[in-house]
Amino acid sequence: MSHNQPGSPVTPMKMHLTILLFFLGYLAAPVTPANVVLIITDDQDSTLDGMTPMVNTLNLIGSRGATFTNCFVASPICCPNRASILTGRYQHNHLTVNNSIAGGCSSAKWQKFQEPATFATLLQIAGYRTFYAGKYLNEYGNRKVGGAAHVPMGWDWWAGLIGNSKYYNYSLSINGTEAKYGNSTSDYLTDVINNLAVNFINGHSDDQPFLMVLAPPAPHAPFTPADRHNDKYNGTKAKRTPNFNVPVHQDKHWLVRKGPTPLPNSVLPKLDEIYRKRWETLLAVDELVKNVHDLLKERNLLNDTYFIYTSDNGYHIGQFSMPMDKRQPYETDIRVPLLISGPGINPSTISAGVSSVDIFATLLDIAGIEYPSDGMTLFQATRNAPQDRIVLIEYRGERSKKIPSSSCPSDSDLNLCMKEMACKCQDAANNTFSCIRRVSITPPNNSPKFNNIFCIFEDNQKFIESYDINVDEYQMTNIGYTMKKGLRHRFRKRLKRMAMCRNVECLFGTNLRSKFNISKF
Ligand SMILES: *[C@@H]1O[C@H](CO)[C@@H](O)[C@H](O)[C@H]1NC(C)=O
Ligand SMILES: *[C@@H]1O[C@H](CO)[C@@H](O)[C@H](O)[C@H]1NC(C)=O
Ligand SMILES: *[C@@H]1O[C@H](CO)[C@@H](O)[C@H](O)[C@H]1NC(C)=O
Ligand SMILES: *[C@@H]1O[C@H](CO)[C@@H](O)[C@H](O)[C@H]1NC(C)=O
Ligand SMILES: *[C@@H]1O[C@H](CO)[C@@H](O)[C@H](O)[C@H]1NC(C)=O
Ligand SMILES: *[C@@H]1O[C@H](CO)[C@@H](O)[C@H](O)[C@H]1NC(C)=O
Ligand SMILES: *[C@@H]1O[C@H](CO)[C@@H](O)[C@H](O)[C@H]1NC(C)=O
Ligand SMILES: *[C@@H]1O[C@H](CO)[C@@H](O)[C@H](O)[C@H]1NC(C)=O
Repeated sequence: MSHNQPGSPVTPMKMHLTILLFFLGYLAAPVTPANVVLIITDDQDSTLDGMTPMVNTLNLIGSRGATFTNCFVASPICCPNRASILTGRYQHNHLTVNNSIAGGCSSAKWQKFQEPATFATLLQIAGYRTFYAGKYLNEYGNRKVGGAAHVPMGWDWWAGLIGNSKYYNYSLSINGTEAKYGNSTSDYLTDVINNLAVNFINGHSDDQPFLMVLAPPAPHAPFTPADRHNDKYNGTKAKRTPNFNVPVHQDKHWLVRKGPTPLPNSVLPKLDEIYRKRWETLLAVDELVKNVHDLLKERNLLNDTYFIYTSDNGYHIGQFSMPMDKRQPYETDIRVPLLISGPGINPSTISAGVSSVDIFATLLDIAGIEYPSDGMTLFQATRNAPQDRIVLIEYRGERSKKIPSSSCPSDSDLNLCMKEMACKCQDAANNTFSCIRRVSITPPNNSPKFNNIFCIFEDNQKFIESYDINVDEYQMTNIGYTMKKGLRHRFRKRLKRMAMCRNVECLFGTNLRSKFNISKF
């Protein structure tokens, strides 16, 4: 692998932070930086109506703030995209390429080179009191990388989930000490995060701004709702989008074609159940948001606090006859919800294309700090239409970590093949792709002029998939091989540049181009 330099380590002594008090001048911001509550859910889609259960969230954050309708992940998989949120870096720059320690997830290198430059470290140095509760990175707490005793740099109050999302029978590292939770009703992780958040806010004194990250497990597998929410969505079925369980033709990449398409009817009730239980798990998150909101209101902190609500990646259930997962370059998997409310943000719907890598710059903007990243502050998007943005999506396919089970015939290059899902494999080592996703908005009606995606797989066909979302919302027809040769060539060139970009080069294609002198593009 040829790597770009990882972000240079930053220590309090070596910091070269330019603390610019509202140099941008466009935020009607308070004199001390505002507080931030960032909520990151796990696997919550936006295209399959994943926000429907979030009634309070839509009401308290959505309708009072900005709703971003075109937010894309840097990588449609947990650990790499969480790394992008934390660092403002695309995968090729933060080098967390999969969910394993070997792939950088919570690895010693991550701890050494990336944790010193996350938004937490930077905001802490700028005077924030910082709090984290819930899932961090999939391999967090693994004994090979320091166990529960490792508290990532930048966090004053740390309650990190050890390992991947769970609802019961898990451990948290509370300020570096492992605490075990069982399976009684009061151990439900989302509720435990809620209680920790309440304790933190109650102990907050007004002389210091706070940054709070709440990262509940919902709606990730094993899809366990809180007892009080069991069966709340009885009768709800997986959304039958036009691309739900359709036969897959030669125009899709090999993994999607492999195995039965459509899926046998016996699988469909299982997909319906997963869909419904995912919604049920989200009800506790919606309560968490409301409780935190109401407590801040009670304490007169609401007008001084930004809420940012997003997810680490999207999800598909049955689209193109793929059972249930992320890890595909389709809209279901790469689109996530993004809501921001707070001082100076008017109720609005923003269709400009934005990315998970922008959250970092947005938090720094709120804190009045400058530090390089691959993204841009989202306050820009709320002001500067027209917008033309190309964002990058990178995914590296994982091979099977376990010996393939004999119940599904497969080799170790194939992954996530489940008997109860007709042995459709959901990942493979060569399910590796990079895409550019372009959204350009034209006023006055903000209808997108360009709204497309172009992907190349790193497999032995160098397979191309491309869609014009303006005319083919459900991605039924791959135009990668039918478009004009010159156009395909331009797409390829742009993708190649984006796949190597760093810092403001990654804003290639935006209308900030001239402002930042991105002359080499
Ligand atoms: C927020 O509200 C409190 C109490 O109403 C007030 O004292 C404070 O000045 C307000 N802050 C901002 C930034 O508007
Ligand atoms: C964790 O550490 C912070 C900062 O020292 C402290 O305020 C907080 O009370 C601790 N939390 C717990 C649960 O011990
Ligand atoms: C939690 O662990 C206990 C003891 O191992 C087990 O009986 C129970 O089924 C588990 N519960 C859940 C919800 O995982
Ligand atoms: C989990 O629940 C089961 C049955 O409901 C019980 O037998 C077991 O002791 C519980 N385990 C823990 C770790 O709380
Ligand atoms: C949902 O269905 C289950 C099983 O069919 C039933 O036991 C439960 O009472 C139903 N719940 C609601 C809220 O309708
Ligand atoms: C994760 O990435 C690393 C580094 O490229 C690789 O060695 C490892 O095999 C990958 N893990 C899986 C499960 O594919
Ligand atoms: C991808 O890898 C699988 C498993 O090793 C292999 O069977 C398949 O032919 C490969 N496909 C492409 C397009 O490279
Ligand atoms: C951009 O580049 C031009 C010429 O290369 C230079 O004259 C100008 O000052 C630069 N602008 C900024 C903002 O750096």
